[in-house]
Amino acid sequence: MENFVINGGHELFGEVTVSGAKNAAVAIIPAALLSNDIVRIENIPNISDVSLIIQILDRMGAGIKMINKNTIEIDSRSVTYQEVPYELASHFRASYYLIGVMLGRFKKAEVAMPGGCDFGVRPIDQHIKGFEMLGAKVETINGMVCATADKLIGSSIYMDVVSVGATMNVMLASVLARGLTIIENAAKEPHIVDLANFLNSMGADIRGAGTDVIKIRGVEKLHGCTYSIIPDQIEAGTYMVAAAACGGDVLVKNVIPKHLESISAKLEEAGAEIIEYDDAVRVTRFKPLTRCNVKTMPHPGFPTDMQPQMAVVLSIAKGTSILSESVWDNRFQYVGQLLRMGADIQVDGKTAVIEGVSALTGVKVKATDLRAGAAMIIAGLVAQGTTIVEDIQYIDRGYEDVCEKFSMIGADIKRVEVSEPDVIAADAG
Ligand code: EPU
Repeated sequence: MENFVINGGHELFGEVTVSGAKNAAVAIIPAALLSNDIVRIENIPNISDVSLIIQILDRMGAGIKMINKNTIEIDSRSVTYQEVPYELASHFRASYYLIGVMLGRFKKAEVAMPGGCDFGVRPIDQHIKGFEMLGAKVETINGMVCATADKLIGSSIYMDVVSVGATMNVMLASVLARGLTIIENAAKEPHIVDLANFLNSMGADIRGAGTDVIKIRGVEKLHGCTYSIIPDQIEAGTYMVAAAACGGDVLVKNVIPKHLESISAKLEEAGAEIIEYDDAVRVTRFKPLTRCNVKTMPHPGFPTDMQPQMAVVLSIAKGTSILSESVWDNRFQYVGQLLRMGADIQVDGKTAVIEGVSALTGVKVKATDLRAGAAMIIAGLVAQGTTIVEDIQYIDRGYEDVCEKFSMIGADIKRVEVSEPDVIAADAG
């Protein structure tokens, strides 16, 4: 069991390099199984969600060679059909991509209902609708999603909600289907484009990714390739927000600035200065933060996965800000932790009204989920005194070398082993 111990109240200065995108990697790595060949994937983030998906592929008989900590070679020629049991699938959300992949390759999939961060109900009805429109029969039996098809045939699928996961899963299931599949009202996130580019590198025929209509013409088979995953938009945004919250001058490297525009726009509105380079952004902030309103939206809107981090900036910005969540039903569970640090936030349903305070104070807080955990680190860096962040296993799901990277920009943060008796004593208190 580990905690982060942060001594806050300092500005941040220096350079930080962003890793590959988690939400692209967790789809692209299983998608390699569709090729029945050898695939090399570069720029994978070294995080626990990726380790889990690699373990599942290993269990399915894929040959896994770690070339280095960010490059993997996957040989899926000897992969056999397997169920994906609860003990593996329940740990992370992206296990649902195995349904699309296995349905595409074996015309059959049995995967336990996925886990992941708790933001309220997380249905997969649009994934199932997509698979059914391709000709699959899908049932949920004892917590397992069971899908079978004699053959998959391209179809026109209208998504009732804009869903990243459903858009990617239908792409995965349809890439080897017969004929043309059209996904309407598709999600447009950068990782959708990355998955399409990866599948096309293996010989797929996908057009329109990044727009709300994606056309997938099924091909007979896919071949091996070498592919490099895009930089992580949310990891980049997290360091940008940290620089804006603490003040200072930070260069965030290995990014695609276009993917960061909504985050840059809001940070500028709040008083930071952003300079874009070809593959880096520089965030400086030396004047006081001012209030602004933020509403999360599907891409290209402000990402929901940056909402908790942005709440920290608004907590110390002069004036009253309105932070609205429009993607998830229940993504303000972390607010109680910020209140304990002295923030002034009132939540009413999917809206938080944030009254800026002059300072936060370090206390013991919990990472209630992955992005909430990132927000707790930023709050700890801003706060006067010492903050202890518990349950950091959530943060390790999505941030590579988070302690080292924050240290490189001058943060006083340490990962500290906590013995079990201490944990029990702390919980009892
Ligand atoms: N939805 C449905 N039916 C479905 C699918 C989704 O009603 O079949 C609803 C959801 O309940 C939600 C909205 O549609 O209200 C959007 O959900 P989406 O499917 O886009 O989310 P997801 O694919 O499950 C991914 C990311 C999340 C990120 C969301 C939104 C992965 C593995 N996860 O989840 O990332 O918040 O898109 O951008 O890609 C994170 O990285 O911390 C994280 C939670």
